[in-house]
Amino acid sequence: MNGDRLQRKIDVKICVLPGDGIGPEIIVQALRVLKALDLKCEIEEAPLGGCAVDAVGDPFPEATQRLALAADAVLLGAVGGPKWDVLPRELRPERGLLGIRKLLGLFANLRPAALYPELANASTLKPEVVAGLDLLIVRELTGDIYFGQPRGIETRGVDGVEQRIGINTMIYSEEEIRRIGKVAFEAARKRKRKLCSVDKSNVLETTQLWRDVMNELAPAYPDVELTHMLVDNAAMQLVRAPKQFDVIVTGNMFGDILSDEASMLTGSIGMLPSASLNETGKGLYEPCHGSAPDIAGKGLANPLATILSVAMMLRYSFALEEMAQRIENAVKNVLGQGLRTADIHEPGTTKLDTEQMGDAVLAAL
Ligand SMILES: NC(=O)c1ccc[n+]([C@@H]2O[C@H](COP(=O)([O-])OP(=O)(O)OC[C@H]3O[C@@H](n4cnc5c(N)ncnc54)[C@H](O)[C@@H]3O)[C@@H](O)[C@H]2O)c1
Repeated sequence: MNGDRLQRKIDVKICVLPGDGIGPEIIVQALRVLKALDLKCEIEEAPLGGCAVDAVGDPFPEATQRLALAADAVLLGAVGGPKWDVLPRELRPERGLLGIRKLLGLFANLRPAALYPELANASTLKPEVVAGLDLLIVRELTGDIYFGQPRGIETRGVDGVEQRIGINTMIYSEEEIRRIGKVAFEAARKRKRKLCSVDKSNVLETTQLWRDVMNELAPAYPDVELTHMLVDNAAMQLVRAPKQFDVIVTGNMFGDILSDEASMLTGSIGMLPSASLNETGKGLYEPCHGSAPDIAGKGLANPLATILSVAMMLRYSFALEEMAQRIENAVKNVLGQGLRTADIHEPGTTKLDTEQMGDAVLAAL
């Protein structure tokens, strides 16, 4: 993003994709918050996922692609639902999600897991283990065993027996590792300056290279403390003593698993935002949860993850740290007042519906 443009607060262009299920409901509240800020923004909405299949027979229509490419950032609700699960794979809503990640070259996925002290009881872990937890997982999103070739299921002779074998290839180039490493070091700089790189370098050459490249990057970030951890230990440490972590950087598959584990430490999926960035800093911002078809249209959805995704957009795509913190502080304030949606409600707090939670955040802003 051009710094000049930001300082003069000239419009930023945001492509909004409400999606399916609770997507439209939570996006409405996030947009109310965005519009309340001192930021000139041009907002254009487009269909993605199941609603796009219904409208034009394509989960990622060309018009949506054009808007996403032209925008400075993309804000997404969620896609999917049982209605579309019966469709052939190429027409499923998830295709839209994979399509937009690919189109925008979103290789870096940032998932914070922060536990607000007020919600310490929501976690399945003891409050003293998780209270004050604030970590960020930086996951590589476009490489690794999920995309490596060769892959497939084929029939071959193994040990003299003709049988099916499944093949996947774990592969990373040093350039792929370097670019995600830089994102992670930079993110650590904006936080407590501690970066833990997670690999399986005792067994896998791919991740030995991962560790080597992280070490090569470290001298350029003398203010960040780099450590390494094997993935099995990291999985264990995340539930044993998660507060030891500030930023974790890891590959696509390990990151997939660890980021879900970390998000559950907070016990409330409705609270967790995420960012996926490309090399120019353009990003797709979305809550970690799905389209929650079970509660869609009932006013039960928690909009805070989406509102916090707007804060991430301001921080990572537009370098508007102060505005990002204003939103985060408003959310803290609302929780401090004991205001809760149904998913995080507990005795002694006040239950709000989706729109009332939006009202509360706006009032706190
Ligand atoms: N990025 C995405 O768009 C994305 C991610 C995950 C799942 N999905 C899709 O979403 C659909 C439903 O998937 P799922 O049920 O496995 O996961 P989900 O995250 O949608 O829901 C899991 C549970 O959490 C609850 N929940 C989720 N978000 C909430 C919120 N903001 N407030 C309150 N409660 C909330 C739901 O009611 C449900 O009980 C599927 O079609 C799946 O493919 C989409």
